[in-house]
Amino acid sequence: MQLTLHCAEPLKTRTACLVLGAFADRWRDPLLLELDRQLDGRLREARRSGEFTGKANESLLLQPATLSAQRILLVGLGPRRDAGLEQLRQAAGIAIGQFKGQHLAGMSCALPLLDLPRTTPAARIEAVTEGLLLAGYRFDRYRTGENRPKGAGPRSVTLLCARGTDRPELENALATAQVLARAVTLARDLVNEPGNVKSPTYLAEQAAAAAAAGGFRCTVLGRDELEREGCGALLGVAQGSVREPRLIVLEYQGGEAGAAPIALVGKGVVFDAGGISLKPAEKMDEMKMDMAGGAATIATCLAAALMKLPVNLVGVIPAVENLPSGSAIRPGDILTSLSGQTIEVLNTDAEGRLILADAITYVRRVNPRLVVDIATLTGACVIALGHHAIAVLGNDPALVQALRAAGEQTGERLWELPLWADYDQQIKSDVADVKNTGGRPAGTITAAAFLQRFSKGLKWAHLDIAGTAWIEQARPCHPKGASGVGVRLLTAFLRGLPENRR
Ligand code: BES
Ligand code: MN
Ligand code: ZN
Repeated sequence: MQLTLHCAEPLKTRTACLVLGAFADRWRDPLLLELDRQLDGRLREARRSGEFTGKANESLLLQPATLSAQRILLVGLGPRRDAGLEQLRQAAGIAIGQFKGQHLAGMSCALPLLDLPRTTPAARIEAVTEGLLLAGYRFDRYRTGENRPKGAGPRSVTLLCARGTDRPELENALATAQVLARAVTLARDLVNEPGNVKSPTYLAEQAAAAAAAGGFRCTVLGRDELEREGCGALLGVAQGSVREPRLIVLEYQGGEAGAAPIALVGKGVVFDAGGISLKPAEKMDEMKMDMAGGAATIATCLAAALMKLPVNLVGVIPAVENLPSGSAIRPGDILTSLSGQTIEVLNTDAEGRLILADAITYVRRVNPRLVVDIATLTGACVIALGHHAIAVLGNDPALVQALRAAGEQTGERLWELPLWADYDQQIKSDVADVKNTGGRPAGTITAAAFLQRFSKGLKWAHLDIAGTAWIEQARPCHPKGASGVGVRLLTAFLRGLPENRR
């Protein structure tokens, strides 16, 4: 989709479709009043009849014969005081959704002109661009012939801006949003890719391709090296699959040489059948998404590099497949992790924490100034928060707070769960240093309590994206399937670091 900025009067723009936003409680907006006048009261009538009242994500398509635009699409934003950047993203997504599967010569989008409280013109350009591009995503590489989707919506969109705004700043915001959309698209593609294609090796190749595109380093450890290192927890999970494990290490140097890096650790289980503690058949197909944390890590490194953020960043992705087989680990097995701690595996389906334990231990060697891990870790997280929030737990309140702030900004919202010492009781083992399950109560917390044992002395936070990585019901900026969650969140977190506030 071709995107351009243009400072012009919306109602004088020649376009196949003009997109306008409307707040539910702001009908006296000069632009809407003028439009209503030109349409002989059509808007007032729509409001009176309840056809279009400006409720969030409501839309009304008009095809007046008399205007310079062939079509007018009104999108509701709800009450003005409640609307923010996320509402704007969704409104842009609704506009794209309206024409999905159709051909449209072009679109002019006046959404960035909205007088949205507590936002800047640049932030509005960024949000609208993200919304447009993310809503246009689809995963169609395996649909052939007449099953290929027809029509790709508008080929080009003009973003309208007010005269007198700082043009270079807006161009920058547009470019930033395009980078973010590219990174989210990469993450979605990786997560949507089926398990037969997506081996740990495939993930490593894709990470290397991202590193080449972004100009940063990618190192991949194979089975022999992992054995030499002593990554017994990771290797334990991998041993049930004929596919070899990989530990993918990405290094982006955007900060000062020698400055301690930020470390991101992303769970990369390319398929999670549960191992010998086999999962039920229903919806097991969705477990191809169990590398969404790894995908977010790869894509965030790409976004940071393309934006040239002034930070040093290390991304570590333990990539394995969790299958049952004659060589798989059994319930009751005891593994020796890279940290030296021994782990009693009571449930082979609690594999994510095993590979993360070794990856977190591995990343200590770069002396990170903080570590954030991101993982589709627990079904309990879906029960606790559903599909609308990421669970965050950690040992550093300032880090958790900074992540939460990034969540509010991007609409990828976080909710903190407690990590009190009381929960450690649940993961005490009779025969090893720790066990890998804490039973049903507080499953998300006991998984984090397990990871905390491997994060001692590090500033660390854990993000559980089990409920948010995969979307079963389409939303304005997400088709069904992979959401690409975490990419915009983590990039916003990196952009919010003190060294970026120049
Ligand atoms: N990958 C799953 C968690 C998951 C569940 C992600 C649903 C997305 C949607 C994880 O490896 C897992 O199986 N966790 C177990 C842990 C339990 C055995 C302690 C779970 O949550 O049931
Ligand atoms: Mn599992
Ligand atoms: Zn898993």
